[in-house]
Amino acid sequence: MDTKQDMGFNTQAVKTHLDGLRQHRPLGVPITQNTNFQFASSRALGEAFHDPHQAAAVYTRFGHPTLAAAEAKLARLEGGEAAVVFDSGMGAITASLLAVLAAGDHVVAQREIFAQTFTFLDEKARSLRIETSFVDATDLDAVTAAIRTQTRVVYIETPSNPLLRVADIAAVARIAASHGALLFVDGTFASPYLQNPLRWGADLVLHSGTKFLGGHADIMCGVAVGRSALVNQIRQTQVLLGGLLDPHAAWLLLRSIKTLGVRVQRQCDTALALARFLVQQDGIVQVHYPWLEGSAYVELARKQMRGGGGVVSFEVAGGLAGARRFVDVLRLIPVATSLGGVESVIEVPSELDFSERELGAAASLTGIRPGLIRLSVGLEDVHDLEADLCLGVGAAVSATVLAGARDESAPCEPAPAHA
Ligand SMILES: Cc1ncc(COP(=O)(O)O)c(C=O)c1O
Repeated sequence: MDTKQDMGFNTQAVKTHLDGLRQHRPLGVPITQNTNFQFASSRALGEAFHDPHQAAAVYTRFGHPTLAAAEAKLARLEGGEAAVVFDSGMGAITASLLAVLAAGDHVVAQREIFAQTFTFLDEKARSLRIETSFVDATDLDAVTAAIRTQTRVVYIETPSNPLLRVADIAAVARIAASHGALLFVDGTFASPYLQNPLRWGADLVLHSGTKFLGGHADIMCGVAVGRSALVNQIRQTQVLLGGLLDPHAAWLLLRSIKTLGVRVQRQCDTALALARFLVQQDGIVQVHYPWLEGSAYVELARKQMRGGGGVVSFEVAGGLAGARRFVDVLRLIPVATSLGGVESVIEVPSELDFSERELGAAASLTGIRPGLIRLSVGLEDVHDLEADLCLGVGAAVSATVLAGARDESAPCEPAPAHA
C-alpha cells in the first residue's frame, strides 16, 4: 500500500518505503535511526512489548537493532553471556549499582576509583542509605576486613585511574563470593582486548566506552557485561532511568570496536616505550605503568592482562607548578581530559580532582600527588611523542635547576626516528 500513487503528498513524504530496502544485504550493521517499530497486529506489538528478547525492535529506549549488534559483540569480547550499553560510562556504573542495591545495603569499594564513581558512592548512594567502605583494593586483608553481612557489592577499578594500580581480580572475586557479594570491575583502562575480568571470577565488568572502545574521542558510551540474569536486571533499571546509546553513536561504537585490537596493541607498545624513556629522564620522580620493569604490579599485570594499556602517569619535580610547566610547554600533545583516543592527550589529575586547598590531604589519601601527570597515548609516532615530552622535561627541570634544587641536568634526547 505504501507505493500507491494515489496517496497524498504528505502521506508519501512520511511513509517508510520498505520494499526497496528489503533486497539489500549490507555487509556492516546499518544504523536503525528510528524510535519505534511496526507490527502486523496489535497483539504482536503487545507480545513484543512484554518480551525482553524482542526489546530491540519495539521502542528505542528499550533497545534497538544497531545497539543489539554492539551489545552482542561486546558480550563476546568480554566472554560474558550478555551486555548492556549506555550513553556514558557513568550511566553504566550508576545504573548497575542501583540495579542491585537497596537502602540498608553496603558496598566495599576501592579508594582510588574514578573521582565521580567515588562521589556517587560517597554522596548519592549514601543519601539513599547505601553505605560504602573505601579500602585499598591491593590489600586483600583490608578488603576482607571491610566486608559486613549487608555487603552486596565489592567494587574495584583495575588498572586504576590515574595511578594504574592493579588489583588481583581473582583474589578479590574469591573474597566477594565467599561472603555472598557481587564483584563489579571497572576495566576501562584495559579494554576487553587486554583484560577479561569475568574470566577471573568477576560478576560484572564495566567500561567507559568513551575511552578505548570508542577510541576516537567522538562518542560517549558505557558498557556492563556479565551473566544474562544480572544484565537483564541492569537493563530494566536502564529502561526506567533512560541513558541508552542512540543509533548513530551505537553504529560508531560498532565501527570502532573493529579496530580495538590494532589500536590498543599499538598504544601499549608506544606507552611502554614512553614509560621506559621517561624513567631515564632527570626531573621525573616516578613513572607509573604496570608493564614497566620494576613496577610493583608487573607480575600481577602479566597474569591477568595482555599488555600494560595506553595510559602512563608520571610525577615531575616541583609539584603542581612543575606539572603545569611540563604540560603547558608541549606542542604536539594537547592538554585535554579523557583518554583512550587515537590522539595523545595530557592532564594534571590533581588540578581536576581537587581544589588547591585539598591537595595535601588528597595526596596522602589517594596517592595522587600535585606533580602527577597523566598521559593518554595515541597513535602518533614514538619519536615525535618523545621529542614533545623532552620539551616538558626541559621546562620542569630548568625550573628546578634555577631554583637551586640541582646543579645541572642531562639533556633529554628522543630515540632516533625510523626511516
Ligand atoms: C575508569 C573510568 N571509569 C568511568 C569513567 C566515566 O566514564 P564516562 O565519562 O564515559 O561517563 C571514566 C571517565 O573518565 C573513567 O576513567
